[in-house]
Amino acid sequence: MYQFILPVHNFVRWFFLAAALYAIYRAFKGKTSGTPYSKDDKTAATLLLASAHSQLLLGLILWFYSPTVQLALANVGLAMKDKASRLILLEHPLLMIIAVAIIQIGKIKVKKAYADSDKHQRSLVYYGIGLILVLSRIPWSSTPLFRF
Ligand code: HEM
Repeated sequence: MYQFILPVHNFVRWFFLAAALYAIYRAFKGKTSGTPYSKDDKTAATLLLASAHSQLLLGLILWFYSPTVQLALANVGLAMKDKASRLILLEHPLLMIIAVAIIQIGKIKVKKAYADSDKHQRSLVYYGIGLILVLSRIPWSSTPLFRF
């Protein structure tokens, strides 16, 4: 299970990052040029949500199977003093869950907005904050960019 899910979680990260950048780019372009909120904007947001929720599910499964997490759980006090262990045990999962929640709330706020310019504005803010949180807590230095 772990050997299968880890590479998938690793790879879907790129899909998430591409979808987030695309949705943010469309929101920025829509806001600055005053274009209507189109079907393509909606599709961009749907792709972002799909990748975010996939990562959430894969990550939750990983958390229970990961040897790194199990080792950290065996001595939580010690793990919290170690930067790398603390990241995998607590910071990465927590911040990612918050980021996905913000992106999800953003999608709902966008749907509720009446004016197209507000839809673009809300997409920009919520998806932007979500992306920044994700980027800040990906274990960049301790894990490979691809895992096949
Ligand atoms: C958009 C959301 C997320 C992104 C982009 C993301 C990205 C990543 C990446 C790139 C890795 C390194 C994978 C590797 O070592 O090859 C990783 C590891 C991990 N992620 Fe996530 N993740 C996300 C959400 C989550 C969530 C919500 C959880 C748990 C609730 C989680 C739990 C883990 C765990 C436990 C590991 C370490 C596995 C190990 O090394 O044994 N992730 N994540």
